[in-house]
Amino acid sequence: MATKILMVCLGNICRSPLAEGILQSKVDIDDVFVDSAGTGGYHIGSKPDSRSIAVGLKYDIDITLQRCRQFSVQDFKDFDLIYVMDHSNYNNVIALAQNEEEKAKVKLILDEVDTGLNEVPDPYHDDDGFENVFHLIDTACTSIAEKLNAN
Ligand code: 4NP
Repeated sequence: MATKILMVCLGNICRSPLAEGILQSKVDIDDVFVDSAGTGGYHIGSKPDSRSIAVGLKYDIDITLQRCRQFSVQDFKDFDLIYVMDHSNYNNVIALAQNEEEKAKVKLILDEVDTGLNEVPDPYHDDDGFENVFHLIDTACTSIAEKLNAN
């Protein structure tokens, strides 16, 4: 059975859509299912932010067909690993977990790598932040994919 990985941020329009697209590009999609969601419900049904679409396309990652959805408690059952972008996302997701097994699925994505940071900064109010966000997520996804591809 495919390993199922969920990428989570606040809005599901800036960071986690990039994380979904980037990880998909590094794994065999027959072996790994990747999705993304937001803890907030402000943008449900929307396309990713145009700035995330643009930085993705710059590096051949096409996220234009993604649509925003909100994280739900069912995601703890449906996914093996839940990667969150920052501590606020972590706290919001952990607050919905019903047991230790569900909590153990939740990880800060930058804990996968040594970037000197442990949060992917929220770029929503920072036009210049998207390039940095792309590279942080790309570095983490390389490490995640190496582990998955070794299985
Ligand atoms: P994201 O960025 O969590 O990376 O998708 C944000 C997108 C929208 C908002 C905040 C962060 N917002 O407040 O609408």
